[in-house]
This record gives sequence, structure tokens and C-alpha cells, in this order.
Amino acid sequence: MIKIANTQFPVNELIKNRWSARSFANTEISDDTINTLLEAASWAPSANNEQPWKFHVAKKNDSSFDKVWESLMQGNRPWCKNAAAFITIFARDTFSANEKPNAWASHDVGIATGYLLLQATSMQIYCHPMAGYDKQILQDNLQYEQGLIPQCIIALGYLDDAEKLEEPYKTRELTPRARKTVDELLISDSI
Ligand SMILES: Cc1cc2nc3c(=O)[nH]c(=O)nc-3n(C[C@H](O)[C@H](O)[C@H](O)COP(=O)(O)O)c2cc1C
Repeated sequence: MIKIANTQFPVNELIKNRWSARSFANTEISDDTINTLLEAASWAPSANNEQPWKFHVAKKNDSSFDKVWESLMQGNRPWCKNAAAFITIFARDTFSANEKPNAWASHDVGIATGYLLLQATSMQIYCHPMAGYDKQILQDNLQYEQGLIPQCIIALGYLDDAEKLEEPYKTRELTPRARKTVDELLISDSI
């Protein structure tokens, strides 16, 4: 499979096998499976064990599926039509104990998102996180509570054939993934 990470160093198979797919099969994801993904996310670490994440789930036949879809940017709309579900991930940006700002909320929700993605990968569910959406439309359509900051919308589903996608998505579905080398990630020791 062209998308499997070709790593410099040995890396866990789940990490190698996760990638952001666009071609989704017309197969439902069960509520139990979605709950497994959300629970996996909930076991992420967070500052003060605040667990600042909240999720909105919209399955294909839910009325909120189109509401989430409407908020997506043009480049995300065509292939997202076939997703089995959207999970919108929010961060609550204040601590519940004292309502003071939680500077780590986005960081911690990012970890939870990573857990969700890897749990999904282990179940042959493919996820595609997106920041390409209109916040105002999402707010108008979902009417989520104040204090929740949307982070990303994940389109998810079981994988279908890349050939079913139109261009430019088909080519993207068939292009190998690339990363910076480990050397490039390091900052130099200035002492
Ligand atoms: C916060 C965030 C926002 C993203 N927004 C979009 C998006 O709007 N549309 C899109 O096609 N991909 C989006 N992506 C997917 C990235 O382009 C993708 O993760 C990256 O190219 C690496 O590819 P991989 O996930 O297959 O390894 C987003 C990913 C993240 C984490």
C-alpha cells in the first residue's frame, strides 16, 4: 500500500498505517464503534486531567451530517460527501474548577485526536482531519455551547477504491506520504 510510512527508524505499525484518506466506502460505522473511538480519545493525558475535549458526532443519515458538511471549504466538500460520519472535535479553553484560561487545551485535544486516529486505524477505519471549514457556519448550524473552540472536523469511514475519486483527489490518494527527516526535527544545542 503506497500510503504506508516508509520510516528511517522502526515505528509502530499503527503509526505507519494511518493516513488521511478521501475515498470512503458506503458502509455504516456502528454506534459502538464510534463510542470505542471516543473512549480511546478520552484516555489521552491532559493538564490537570482536565480532559478539555468535546465531540460532536454526525453519522451519514443524521440530520446534522449535512449541517457539518455545509461548513466545509469547497476543496473538502466533494470527497467528504461519502464519509460514513463526521466527528467534530472541540476544546474547552478554560479550567472547569475556576474558569481560568487553560493554555494547554489545544495541545491536549491534539493528543486525544491522535489517540482517536490510531484507534480507528486499528479497526480499519480511515480518518481525515480537516481545518478547512467555516467556523461561523459550523457555529450557526450546530449551535454548540459558548467556551467550546472547534479544532478540527474528522471525516471517517471504511476505505474504498481510489479510482472512484475525481481529480485532483484521486492523484492525492495515490501519492506516497513524506516527512522531514529526524535530523531536521532537532534544534541545535546553543550552549
Ligand atoms: C489540523 C489539521 C487540518 C487539516 N486540514 C485539512 C483540510 O482542510 N483538508 C485536507 O484535505 N486535509 C487536511 N488535513 C490533512 C493533512 O493535509 C494531512 O494530515 C497531511 O498532509 C499529512 O498526510 P497524512 O495525514 O496522510 O499523513 C489536515 C490535518 C490536520 C491535522
